[in-house]
Amino acid sequence: MSYNLLKGKRGIIFGALDENSIAWKTAERVHEEGGTFVLTNAPVAMRMGQINALAEKTGSQIIPADATSEEDLQNLVEKSMEILGGKIDFVLHSIGMSINVRKGKHYTDQNYAWTQKGTDVSAMSFHKTMQTLYKQDAMNEWGSIVALTYMAAQRVFPDYNDMADNKAYLESIARSFGYFFGRDKKVRVNTISQSPTPTTAGSGVKGFDGFIAYAEKMSPLGNATALDCANYTVSLFSDLTKRVTLQNLFHDGGFSNMGVSDAVMNAFVEGQDK
Ligand code: NAI
Repeated sequence: MSYNLLKGKRGIIFGALDENSIAWKTAERVHEEGGTFVLTNAPVAMRMGQINALAEKTGSQIIPADATSEEDLQNLVEKSMEILGGKIDFVLHSIGMSINVRKGKHYTDQNYAWTQKGTDVSAMSFHKTMQTLYKQDAMNEWGSIVALTYMAAQRVFPDYNDMADNKAYLESIARSFGYFFGRDKKVRVNTISQSPTPTTAGSGVKGFDGFIAYAEKMSPLGNATALDCANYTVSLFSDLTKRVTLQNLFHDGGFSNMGVSDAVMNAFVEGQDK
């Protein structure tokens, strides 16, 4: 269902790789709500992904940008304003990658060159994106910037590896930069802490199937899907949430406030009986 919540708003959406991507669902929903945007992803991801199909479907243009490159980001922001015909109202940072995770390097045995690369891609890229937008004065007043995160930033999930540290850094950047963006440009900055979701990045985490099933059983409302996340993001881009900023917003069916659920306890007791 569409409510025209984003009519007349312009944005940039990072991170749509394939139709499972949270950014992909968000782009579809933003389009339905009347928003126009530029799609962007790392040049290498474009070859793997199906982003052209999404661009066609949503009437969007694509500008490749490696989110770790200041030069690419400057070009992206400049060109986006040209293409969209004005300043930006919303930005989705939906980017995450850990080489240690990908290559099965344990948290206690990290390759620090890989750790640094992962931090640059998954967290510092958010600072670089905001610094570029800020310096170019590219955001309209009451604009909204959202990045996606996971609760391993606050609590221990052993297999999340160095991504846990990257997410803690990302959330801190949202608060720190959000202060200056709010004070100087009336722009809000938030992170959404999303349930485990079956995407390329999500499924890369060791033991993901168990992880997602456990969260499903623990959450009173069940796991939030990628589409649910897209809808929540639309609300944060809309004028209905103008004074929500500097927040890490849990979007997880209630998981983050649970100790244990009947379903998890029953499964545990059954397992113990064996
Ligand atoms: P995805 O794999 O579809 O998206 C990750 C995106 O990051 C890809 O499009 C990839 O090309 C992009 N990317 C990687 N390196 C890049 C670079 N140097 N420059 C620009 N883009 C780059 O997976 P998903 O799950 O949609 O991930 C989106 C966000 O949601 C990530 O921040 C992820 O950590 C977060 N998240 C995912 C959860 C899950 O269980 N899938 C749970 C909570 C948060």
